[in-house]
Amino acid sequence: MRLSVIGCGYLGAVHAAAMASIGHDVIGIDVDARKVEQLSRGEAPFFEPGLQEILTEGIQSGRLRFTTDMAEASGATVHFVGVGTPQQKDGYAADLTYVNAAIDGLLPYLNPGDLVAGKSTVPVGTAADLTPRVEATGATLVWNPEFLREGWAVQDTIDPDRLVVGVPAGEAGERAAATLREVYHPAVAKGTPFIVTDLATAELVKVAANAFLATKISFINAMAEIAEVTGADVTQLADAIGHDARIGRRFLGAGIGFGGGCLPKDIRAFSARAEELGRGESVAFLREIDAINLRRRDRAVDLTVAALDGTVFEKKITVLGAAFKPHSDDIRDSPALDVAVRLRGLGANVTVTDPAAIENARSRHPQLTYVEDRDEALRDADAVIVVTEWDEYRRQMPPEHVSALTAGRIIIDGRNCLDAAAWRAAGWTYYGMGRP
Ligand code: UGA
Repeated sequence: MRLSVIGCGYLGAVHAAAMASIGHDVIGIDVDARKVEQLSRGEAPFFEPGLQEILTEGIQSGRLRFTTDMAEASGATVHFVGVGTPQQKDGYAADLTYVNAAIDGLLPYLNPGDLVAGKSTVPVGTAADLTPRVEATGATLVWNPEFLREGWAVQDTIDPDRLVVGVPAGEAGERAAATLREVYHPAVAKGTPFIVTDLATAELVKVAANAFLATKISFINAMAEIAEVTGADVTQLADAIGHDARIGRRFLGAGIGFGGGCLPKDIRAFSARAEELGRGESVAFLREIDAINLRRRDRAVDLTVAALDGTVFEKKITVLGAAFKPHSDDIRDSPALDVAVRLRGLGANVTVTDPAAIENARSRHPQLTYVEDRDEALRDADAVIVVTEWDEYRRQMPPEHVSALTAGRIIIDGRNCLDAAAWRAAGWTYYGMGRP
């Protein structure tokens, strides 16, 4: 099938390459000429396992191309819109500038019978607002939210755990759902749940899923706060409640909390939209979820200060991690970098290292010192803080090895990802989040 993908950021670039890899003929369109050139050379513009391979393969096969020219969308059967919906500069709501621009730019090239499939995360009601413009061309607008996780984006796109498609009522909607079943044929053929809803439900499914995940993380972090004043261990607590299949252990990792380009801005946009709908109180708890989350960063900073006898001024602190999570070079709203910046603000000599995100971190926070090599970064540190749970720190960093490099023996485990007993046995003072 011929497909166009408007917006070649995280979502769009992965979607375009993944659709080509399952046999479609794909044109990716973006306004950023540099990004388009890079993608056209087969270079992934960000760190995402597996993306490089499917990009190269798609371009070499001739099934995948990138352009800045929207006119090239003409002739595609389905047009996916995957542009960003960042938080507004002066509020919590989502900024829909790029969605509107993408739709308006696409309209002149739509043909009757075409399908426009929104993938961007949008406030509920957006698709209904856009529908008249799209339908005036004879095309149909559907919403097909994306649930990919950074770090697993390729796998999540090709082999998702569910597909959700919001369609308009009537025959056009039925035809649209059938077309999307064809687009996603390998997943559909293997029995992946394919859920057809109305437009509003599809939009809401996406924000509800992210709100639930954020709530789960903040719930366990709230338990960590209670554990901290009672001497309980939140990791054991999570293991114990996680055995209940109704609760489940995943996303009960207490630590410095969630960040990234999705969860934080999505819960805020959801609150803002609910206020507009007169239902602010229905999701008032999301404000608390956000507040708990942000408090965990304070906690990590406070723990570090306390561990260094009340002041970090001119102490050398090695910060392990900059990305908002492992397997990613994304530093958007990264709790890891936030902690690093705050420690620097308190006068510490902060050295940051990360296996993938240094370049991005440096351009955003040039005031910090960055060292590529982990062991070099650890040299002479008074304290070490783990803020992103890369395997390089979690599994491949024996305490005895680190002891030979650092000046001090203080380790703060901002992700509860280390073996506390092993560090203590090696003579370190270990501090976890919500652990005694
Ligand atoms: C999230 C969702 O998980 C995806 O399903 C969704 O498609 C995506 O947002 C999106 O809307 O595009 P992502 O931002 O890649 O995906 O990251 P997550 O894996 O959800 O992690 C988010 C943050 O939560 C990270 O900072 C991570 O360190 C933190 N986290 C995660 C915890 O603090 N504890 C946990 O137990 C799990």
